[in-house]
Amino acid sequence: MAPTTSTSCIGKAVSELETPSFLVDLEKVTKNCQAMKDSCKGLELAFRPCTNTHRTLEASKLQTVEKEKGIMCRSLHEVEHLASNGFDDILYGFPLLKAHMPRISKLAEKLTSLHLTVDNCDAVCALKDTAPPSGKTWSVLLMVDCGAKREGVWWEAEDGVKLAQAMKDCEHITFKGVYAFCGNSYEGTEADLEKTRDEAIERLLKFVERLTAIDVKCTTIGLGGTPVCKTSGPNMKKLTELHSGNYIFNDLQQCTLGTKRDDIACTIATRVVGHYPHRKQMLVDCGENGLSTSGNHGSNNKEMGYALVKEEPNFRVSAVYQDLGVVEAVSGDMDFSKYPIGSVIQLLPWHSCGTSLLYNKYHVIGKDGKVAEEWSPISTC
Ligand SMILES: Cc1ncc(COP(=O)(O)O)c(C=O)c1O
Repeated sequence: MAPTTSTSCIGKAVSELETPSFLVDLEKVTKNCQAMKDSCKGLELAFRPCTNTHRTLEASKLQTVEKEKGIMCRSLHEVEHLASNGFDDILYGFPLLKAHMPRISKLAEKLTSLHLTVDNCDAVCALKDTAPPSGKTWSVLLMVDCGAKREGVWWEAEDGVKLAQAMKDCEHITFKGVYAFCGNSYEGTEADLEKTRDEAIERLLKFVERLTAIDVKCTTIGLGGTPVCKTSGPNMKKLTELHSGNYIFNDLQQCTLGTKRDDIACTIATRVVGHYPHRKQMLVDCGENGLSTSGNHGSNNKEMGYALVKEEPNFRVSAVYQDLGVVEAVSGDMDFSKYPIGSVIQLLPWHSCGTSLLYNKYHVIGKDGKVAEEWSPISTC
């Protein structure tokens, strides 16, 4: 975990901050949020943004279409935090565990609308065995795996249909419908996106048809994941809602799927700590302490590594130690005189969700290049 500065940094320039530091460009974040809202509106689909990339109250407010309504969280800590701060319609989009029922019951009492997701019989039994707060029912979505190979009942299997039927038959459960996270969209390239999306939608709709055939209705048919939510196609009209989270910050991985590098709204400020001309490298004070190493892209992705230097995209972070990052040129030489020891540079991360997780404060940069706000993300554990 990167160091926390307990004193306020509002008004400071980036060069004055402790490093590594997670920076958010307020203008870009606001623009990214509006673009996703506009695109869902254009598709005539409801939009339930996901807080997984930032886990803050401030960004949740920027993301939501209707003031403090219609949001999705991946951890109960986040649901509890948002519920205590005015949010009133929250989807807890993580496989429900029986052990969490006491916390879920408290949330259901507090919120006008709490929605849950399940993909197995233990979770459905936990809901059947627990009475919801008086006058309410458990509102539930069934997660369907349409190719992402993560949570969800496999779209072709029989168990999902049985679970949906069991929920429909339970008086205190309102079966809302289905939701598929299109995580496999991250595996391909931009050229594969439409095919991946359409295959997921087709599978999801086939599953819905099987439910319709036994009179189990789906009022919600949702698809998630930033890469597919940024596309548009006629098949999408058959859905009812989209869920995405990463688009708020974006990252280099998203750029390999069509996002413009200029739309990356977060950077890591880091200090140059050494020059090593004999091996054409410099070291910065940001290693695993400040950059996600998820997917080991430093070694897998030669062009971008773990991060690119914002000011000089020909420089990448090619390797990370616990507290140091190795910066080298993708091609050609390095002009060390431009990056004196002690100077601050900014990194564009390969993976913004995993990177933001390492910080307990974000410095939000305004138009004047100075810290305008400080956001404190909720810990996920
Ligand atoms: C179930 C689910 N839906 C939606 C999202 C948001 O996806 P993305 O970060 O690609 O926008 C996530 C992210 O982890 C997720 O797990």
